[in-house]
Amino acid sequence: MEQHARTDAYSDRYAARAAGMVPSEIRALFAMVARPEVVSLAGGAPYVSALPLDVVGGMIGDLVATRGAEALQYGSAQGDAGLRERICDVMALEGVQASADDVVVTVGAQQALDLVTKVFVDPGDVVLAEAPSYVGALGTFAAYQADVVHVPLDEGGLIPAALRETLDRLAREGRRVKFLYTVPTFQNPAGVTLTAARRAQILEICAAHDVLVIEDNPYGLLGFDGEPMRALRADDAERVIYLGTFSKTIASGLRVGWALAPHAVRAKLVLAAESAVLCHPALSQVAVREYLTTQPWREQIKDFRELYRARRDAMLDALDSLMPEGCTWTRPGGGFFVWVTLPEGLDAKAMAPRAIAERVAYVPGTGFYADGGGRRNMRLSYCFAEPDRIREGVRRLAGVIENEIRMRDTFGAARPDGVSGGVHTPGPGIV
Ligand SMILES: Cc1ncc(COP(=O)(O)O)c(C=O)c1O
Repeated sequence: MEQHARTDAYSDRYAARAAGMVPSEIRALFAMVARPEVVSLAGGAPYVSALPLDVVGGMIGDLVATRGAEALQYGSAQGDAGLRERICDVMALEGVQASADDVVVTVGAQQALDLVTKVFVDPGDVVLAEAPSYVGALGTFAAYQADVVHVPLDEGGLIPAALRETLDRLAREGRRVKFLYTVPTFQNPAGVTLTAARRAQILEICAAHDVLVIEDNPYGLLGFDGEPMRALRADDAERVIYLGTFSKTIASGLRVGWALAPHAVRAKLVLAAESAVLCHPALSQVAVREYLTTQPWREQIKDFRELYRARRDAMLDALDSLMPEGCTWTRPGGGFFVWVTLPEGLDAKAMAPRAIAERVAYVPGTGFYADGGGRRNMRLSYCFAEPDRIREGVRRLAGVIENEIRMRDTFGAARPDGVSGGVHTPGPGIV
């Protein structure tokens, strides 16, 4: 019976692209993360409870009562015109000058990623992505059968020399690169930000190799110090396709994101969106438009920043005082994530079930690589848990790592793997 339940009777009928749609075995572990005794430093869910939910609820109720005929009707596949104007106001905070006509509204940045990949990538095409890279993007690239080639990053973001070398090598091999996918600001999962100097270099290198850039920027307005970074798109309107979202600055459940693309590409994205969904949920779109028109959204983003800054501080303080020697981690200036590197000989993926047994969860680094890298890494998020829980989570995690180090010193290597397999589709809440 058990055997029968596991067999997929449809496997010889699926399209080849379905082979790239592999569930994460780590998903099974995450079923346990929901238990209240487990401190989850795994999920990337924003803290939507910080919104004035009564005000937002009243606003949405009024919208339906007074403008329901618009809010509950089909709309255009490009998205609500008034919302696209407001989206241009938001991007202006990062130096982007855009026309609302070049914006297409999407179901979160995730659908923008899907549409862009659908429009550009044939099976076997090369896509460049940071190492590590956003797990949801890797899932999309796998679904479209792209060949992901990683380019390393460090504390200053993607490394220009490594990008140049990779592009030179691929050119020598006669392989055309469809685009570079990058999360330049407060990267998911590494928490690092591409420096201003490197931004110019990356654009220059991509221009020299005639490679498009997909700039995915969900966290750009969630910096803890100073003004927002200038977006890559602000300095190259023809080469950069910018993806944005209100998931982290308003609410992820609204599922409103967008792509800003050169005009011809925008036209293709609209057609692709139409065939996928006809049009995007009108209620969500008018709710976001109304929110951006009538509510103090800039102040709300400031509140989010303060909240996440306090949590980032709690996590870094706890890591500084509790983590065993040999561990290193990034120090994010914004966004949601810290990227930890474990000492030589440890394996974050093998360790995950043991951490959950000790009531703390993280995402093993392997999920953020298309090539099996990241075994000594883990992503910790500070966006959702309260500061005290974060400290407690790090305390438990430090204990687990200390134990692993003892085991390594006794047996000479990491203990056997508790989980294996692809981590391409992350599962709910892990984004
Ligand atoms: C880098 C990155 N891109 C895209 C997304 C998807 O966001 P959305 O909720 O807008 O689909 C996320 C979500 O966490 C993300 O971190």
